[in-house]
Amino acid sequence: MALKIMTAEEAASLIKDNDNVGFSGFTHAGCPKVVPVALAKRAEEEHAKGNSFKIGMFTGASTGDSIDGALARAHAIKFRTPYQTNKDLRNAINSDEVKYFDLHLSTLAQDLRYGFYGPVDVAIIEASDVTEDGEIVPTCGVGISPTIARLAKIVIVELNSWHPKELRGMHDLVELPDPPHREAIGIYSVRDRIGKDHIKIDPEKIVVVNTNMPNEGNGFSPVDEITSLIGKNVVKFFVEEMKAGRMPETFLPIQSGVGNIANAVLKELGDSKEIPDMEVYTEVIQDAIIDLMEKGRIKFASGGTLTVSNPVIERIYKNLNFFKERIIFRTAEISNNPEVARRLGIIAMNTAIETDIFGNINSTHVMGSKIMNGIGGSGDFARSSYLSIFLTPSTAKSGKISAFVPMVSHLDHSEHSVKVIISEYGVADLRGKSPKDRAECIIKNCAHPDYRPLLRKYLQSGEKGQTPVNLYNAFAFHKAFMETGNMRDAQM
Ligand code: COA
Repeated sequence: MALKIMTAEEAASLIKDNDNVGFSGFTHAGCPKVVPVALAKRAEEEHAKGNSFKIGMFTGASTGDSIDGALARAHAIKFRTPYQTNKDLRNAINSDEVKYFDLHLSTLAQDLRYGFYGPVDVAIIEASDVTEDGEIVPTCGVGISPTIARLAKIVIVELNSWHPKELRGMHDLVELPDPPHREAIGIYSVRDRIGKDHIKIDPEKIVVVNTNMPNEGNGFSPVDEITSLIGKNVVKFFVEEMKAGRMPETFLPIQSGVGNIANAVLKELGDSKEIPDMEVYTEVIQDAIIDLMEKGRIKFASGGTLTVSNPVIERIYKNLNFFKERIIFRTAEISNNPEVARRLGIIAMNTAIETDIFGNINSTHVMGSKIMNGIGGSGDFARSSYLSIFLTPSTAKSGKISAFVPMVSHLDHSEHSVKVIISEYGVADLRGKSPKDRAECIIKNCAHPDYRPLLRKYLQSGEKGQTPVNLYNAFAFHKAFMETGNMRDAQM
């Protein structure tokens, strides 16, 4: 049976006001590009006629600008989940135009199957190949694609010839059966495969839009002095852990978070002669992982997506056979699965926006109220890992903000999920320490020297008890920033 072929505009016209639309991909990778832009245009035309046109959006994680940016600028988003990083969408969320629901990335596919967030009316999937009997091969990012493709009534496939059809074979795609029928997930090493190399659905519901569009990813900031120092501290810590026999000499699989800091830390790990060759079980495969794979320092990477810059992806596609033997793309519910993370003994390294002196972490909000990105996969890994490490520069905004505060203004990872904190100044190993000892350790080893006296003063002023907080001054740093633009002006 020949598949239906349409233009992007025709495909976008299948989507109705108030529909819930699922998008393939994870970060910019694997995301559709032409249909969402056509949809944004359609929304603008409907709005100009005085009609309402907004959709609910389910994605794997953040997306390219053609999805979150274009639809946010067209005021076409009513609801959005889970992670996002787009400036225009962030502004729309923080101005209360878009209802945003942040959750752990591993849980969205199953939550959609459970029906927690309503139906998936339409799925838009970027593919490197699609067959007449309904086999869809994603491109270089998966996310929630198998679930939205199965649940949706209409599946628009953006067949993007910028990606080689030979990507087939790199994916390991599976949907977990829902409780009470779920069994153990058969992944015992980062290389294990449990699924298929394609998504199979009824071809009757497929509509194909042909495109040739490059990925929309940007590169990372170059490693700077601070991120390099954080990376060196991570290396030092791992070497001590291996010497103390707390880390196998063969090492354990690495999960590294998203962003500039994670990319820089991976580079330092790869450059260190004392760190053995590594394997990665993570969600985002960033530039540094590919560089280290080419150098033979990373032997294998299981992830959900190639969040790399275009020069790097072009390098991968030129040498695809090499990378096909070393990379698996999984769905978010498997790449981030807590059961697998605990079994494999993952070393989880994620980045904090703000950390309090007792070890609680805020990964998502600036000054308590404004969302930055979302929790992403950090919670999936932090709680279930062998060793949960949070990384942060000691200050932000030229030192006017201390990353270490008396009390976090928003809580994502509680003290119970945080074992080690590392800044450019050093390592706070919180394992087995009481809240007061944790506070002393964090202030001494990680906080910026300018802020240490203020943090000590706060700690001394704390009420006696298990956790010496002082509720009168808990937000003195934030109050000072709001009043003078500098946390150094905090009054204790
Ligand atoms: N207050 C205000 N702004 C802060 C801040 C603070 N305490 N800490 C960091 N920021 C700002 C930085 O100034 C920077 O702003 P800019 O873009 O205007 O320059 C921005 O946050 C990003 O910080 P940066 O230091 O460049 O780090 P990053 O690129 O590594 O991103 C997070 C850090 C926390 C935002 C990012 O890692 C994230 O979204 N994490 C949550 C999800 C997650 O951990 N996923 C990983 C699972 S794989």
